[in-house]
Amino acid sequence: MKAGTAPSGEELEKQIEQLLDQERFDPPAKFAENALLNDPKVYEQAAEDPVKWWAGHAEDLHWFEDWDEVLDDSQAPFYKWFRGGKLNASYNCLDRHVEAGIGDRVAFHWRGEEGEERDVTYAGLHRDVQRLANALKDRGIGPGDVVGIYLPMIPEVVVAMLACARIGAPHNVVFGGFSPSSVKERMEFSEAKALITADAARRKGKTAPVKPAVDDFLGELPSIETVVVVKNAGEDVAMTEGRDLWYHEALEAADAECAAEPLDAEHPLYVLYTSGSTAKPKGILHTTGGYLTGVAATTRYVFDLKPETDVFWCSADVGWVTGHSYIVYGPLACGATSVMYEGAPDYPDKDIWWKLCDRYGVTIFYTAPTAIRSCMKWGADYPARHDLSTLRLLGTVGEPINPKAWVWYHLVIGGRRCPVVDTWWQTETGHIMIAPLPGITATKPGSATTPFPGIEAEVVDEEGDDAGTAQGLLVLRKPWPGMLRNLYKDPDRFKETYFSKFGPTTYFVGDAARRDDDGYFWVIGRVDDVINVSGHRLSTAEVESAIVSHPKVAEAAVIGQTDEDSGQAICAFVTLEGERGGDDEMVAQLREHVAKRIGKLARPKRVVWADDLPKTRSGKIMRRLLRDIAEGRELGDVTTLRDPDVMSQLEEKVAARRDEADA
Ligand code: PRX
Repeated sequence: MKAGTAPSGEELEKQIEQLLDQERFDPPAKFAENALLNDPKVYEQAAEDPVKWWAGHAEDLHWFEDWDEVLDDSQAPFYKWFRGGKLNASYNCLDRHVEAGIGDRVAFHWRGEEGEERDVTYAGLHRDVQRLANALKDRGIGPGDVVGIYLPMIPEVVVAMLACARIGAPHNVVFGGFSPSSVKERMEFSEAKALITADAARRKGKTAPVKPAVDDFLGELPSIETVVVVKNAGEDVAMTEGRDLWYHEALEAADAECAAEPLDAEHPLYVLYTSGSTAKPKGILHTTGGYLTGVAATTRYVFDLKPETDVFWCSADVGWVTGHSYIVYGPLACGATSVMYEGAPDYPDKDIWWKLCDRYGVTIFYTAPTAIRSCMKWGADYPARHDLSTLRLLGTVGEPINPKAWVWYHLVIGGRRCPVVDTWWQTETGHIMIAPLPGITATKPGSATTPFPGIEAEVVDEEGDDAGTAQGLLVLRKPWPGMLRNLYKDPDRFKETYFSKFGPTTYFVGDAARRDDDGYFWVIGRVDDVINVSGHRLSTAEVESAIVSHPKVAEAAVIGQTDEDSGQAICAFVTLEGERGGDDEMVAQLREHVAKRIGKLARPKRVVWADDLPKTRSGKIMRRLLRDIAEGRELGDVTTLRDPDVMSQLEEKVAARRDEADA
């Protein structure tokens, strides 16, 4: 679509309505003709022998030593892939491209919030990664030592991750939007030996100090012996002698050459904390050979990526798994050129994404439904300011996409010519599991379609039997290369969470789903106490524990409530200490308190003051009933409640709040 040609107003609404009536969207003929995969037989071939299929993709990587066995399932669910093989992720992402003569290719067109630009080439990354790897080694960091990374969206975050991978030090990246107290917790759990951070971070024109906030907790963490500080915003910060070093000085002082360590295929590549059903986040452990095989293959085939000509942009933050797999490891393993943007989608204005798509000639764009809904709200005039004609494929991830947002994306951003790939996966799966192959699969708005070749997914009932076309639980029946290998230092919780409900060989996803008559998967949402806010996972227990840590709070129960902007929003039912009643000032205090403990993304959108919470006779809070109240549904069974009156009081309060909001 050329600038200025987007439909708007009534015409746009009409076209959206028409598209919503269309059940299926076949791959455009021209797209299919040029696609890397366009023969449906690929599904059968992969299904016949998935292990062989994955081995074929592993062969696309560089191995220092071949593997002895592709899949070792002798200790399920502790699977091993490419046993005996040796490789290095940093070598695969950098050295082999430089050796192949494409060192001058841009790996990232980086754009700063204030419009600064840096083109980072493969050779440039290779140079910096080697130096940082040497600097870390000089500080005694080696294979197996965890290195924390708490950085904004700047190229140094990629250098930091790959420097760790180069020397076999698993990284533990914490999303920049999490509070320093969350960073502390994650460093503590993983016993990190070093932390790579920045002086400050920029967000929407403001600069927020990072290093001083980090210093506040580091004193309590004896395991951290080294802190590397990127001078990002030019802030003056205190440096602790013997522990802290500036990133740029460290690079300058370090040796230029650092050979990539040949690492076992099962060597830990990273740990990434994500929310589970309890207040304690889970350290998802990914290893090297299988993960890299999975992310490279899915980057190539789900996005139909042709590294020589495509410009790829995954708009996630590197602090989430999407950033790990589809900003860093997948695209770099494929030798792709990507865009990396430091700022928010509405800064400096709401057209920044489209401006950058135009500027860098982006061909493949991957984002989250929540972001698409924001763009829809802002209006089609913003994308219409720019030429988006280079785009040829669009992707989404993180939550179910509502058909209207899908259709808007396809029409307004994709100009009807771009297939939309809705990709279902998780931090645990490491890479995309259910998604169309854009040259083969007909898409249906709202469905992630069918499993990637080599992946076996099913929807089952509580007994583990095929649920047919009824709603049930999503499971994965066969191991896949990028799967999590363990929860960091918590194998019991790993088995219990994922491989106990249906036995040690069936992975329990934790999502509800259904399949339609064509076998397409429709993922509905979580079945555990995990809330998905704007595609970000939070546990109700984690938020509750942050709220009750406020001295004036006696008790709290948190639920996810359907929200038209963020998919789900956090709604907290709170009982205060003593006779105190809640007011707006107290709501503000609680929100601030949660922001400090976890991060702004965990702040409750709604707080309902409750004199008491609905509990069973044994004292368990019945969140199901709170969900019913919040959604305005008829109440489910209340007979097991200790005090059924609690519910009528709460209903009145919620109804009063709704009236206030409507007024
Ligand atoms: O509930 C599913 C939802 O996000 C969860 C995984 O969250 P996380 O580990 O943070 O990873 C997000 C990015 C990979 C899933 O259990 N989810 C993710 N993608 C989709 C989705 N739900 C529906 N459709 C999707 N495409």
